[in-house]
Amino acid sequence: MSFAYRQGVLCAEQVSLADIAQRFGTPCYVYSRAAIEAAYREYARALHGREALVCYSVKANSNLAVLALLARLGAGFDIVSGGELARVLAAGGDPRKTLFSGVGKTEAEIELALQKKILCLNLESEGELERVNAVAARIGVRAPVAFRVNPDIDARTHPYISTGLRENKFGVAHVDALRLYQRAAKMPAIEVVGIGCHIGSQLTSSAPFVEAAGRIAALADKLAHAGIALRHIDIGGGVGIRYRDETPEPIGSFLDGALGLLAGRREGLIVDPGRSIVGNAGLLLARVEHVKPGAGRGFLVVDAAMNDLIRPALYSAWHEVRAVREPEPGATRTVYDVVGPVCESGDFLAKERSLAAREGDLLAIMSAGAYGMTMSSNYNSRPRAAEVLVHGSEAHLVRERETVEQLFALERIPG
Ligand code: LLP
Repeated sequence: MSFAYRQGVLCAEQVSLADIAQRFGTPCYVYSRAAIEAAYREYARALHGREALVCYSVKANSNLAVLALLARLGAGFDIVSGGELARVLAAGGDPRKTLFSGVGKTEAEIELALQKKILCLNLESEGELERVNAVAARIGVRAPVAFRVNPDIDARTHPYISTGLRENKFGVAHVDALRLYQRAAKMPAIEVVGIGCHIGSQLTSSAPFVEAAGRIAALADKLAHAGIALRHIDIGGGVGIRYRDETPEPIGSFLDGALGLLAGRREGLIVDPGRSIVGNAGLLLARVEHVKPGAGRGFLVVDAAMNDLIRPALYSAWHEVRAVREPEPGATRTVYDVVGPVCESGDFLAKERSLAAREGDLLAIMSAGAYGMTMSSNYNSRPRAAEVLVHGSEAHLVRERETVEQLFALERIPG
């Protein structure tokens, strides 16, 4: 178990979270290397024996130590900005295993990606096709591209993280795909290499995922008939994790249906998971500053806030809250909202949790390894949290806590 109680104290692998708080302070993100490796290996096992690549979606958790760990395991990467490409390169990731997605790539980002010889640019519009062709022609290369096709499937997840419906901004419409591929195939600086889709995130059932993979594969067949042979099919990411009482299929069985459907095809296969690799491999460690009685319910005011973990405020996401020191049996519990010091009513990490907590106690906000630190901000001039990666009995500081001076180091007061 990556996070479990030992002698009454919650630990990350073999390291007590109380020790981590003492050494590195709070708020602090804590990741388990073993948990990240185990999740990656589930993908590797499921894809074993096929020509396939796991392109880890960097947006979920982009700490260099996490990227370096995955690169060493053989992962490729799914990026959405020049910044993420720079991170992949700095962490020793292979650009030839890197996909560039996103609806608004700038010319500078496209140029950087082409110079670094990335595996593929996933195009999301006709305008992007023209732009990539122009940039590639200017610098004298052929750009490897795929279209992200919107299969118009309801992922049945939160509307903010559902991306495969016709009304979403992502991808090109299924009905336009053939025409766009035919146009791309004629462009001098374009090399058509693949097709992709991604219908949404935190999918707990594989049915819409399998349906999308089927539609994309059928489109690949149609393209082959039209003389456009593809090298890869990218079936996206989106595999859900357990936050509360969800019962997502384990990674292997989640992929089973899609893999069966794509068995025996000549194209290589790409998946781009984020959350399912790092989500349950991380937690946010916070300290109780005040126990504040309120009308109806009490508040635990902690030193982490919505700027550190915005998912509860943004998606009403539910994260389990555990006391780092297991309360004595029979300790009185009270129902609390766990809130931060930020000046917003939406600044909460959890609502209505029954906890026995006192000022100074440590709490762990679980399942915060994905879209936690990467979505954090400096709102209220709060320096961002430290990040720690645990490996067995060792805890490594993989990002220092920001200092207040760093927050305004780039600002100038005009004379
Ligand atoms: N591929 C593409 C093209 C994507 O847009 C995404 C995520 C992924 C892969 C990875 O999806 P995953 O395996 O992590 O579900 N901030 C939200 C999630 C946004 C997901 C955006 N796209 C959250 O905190 O729930």
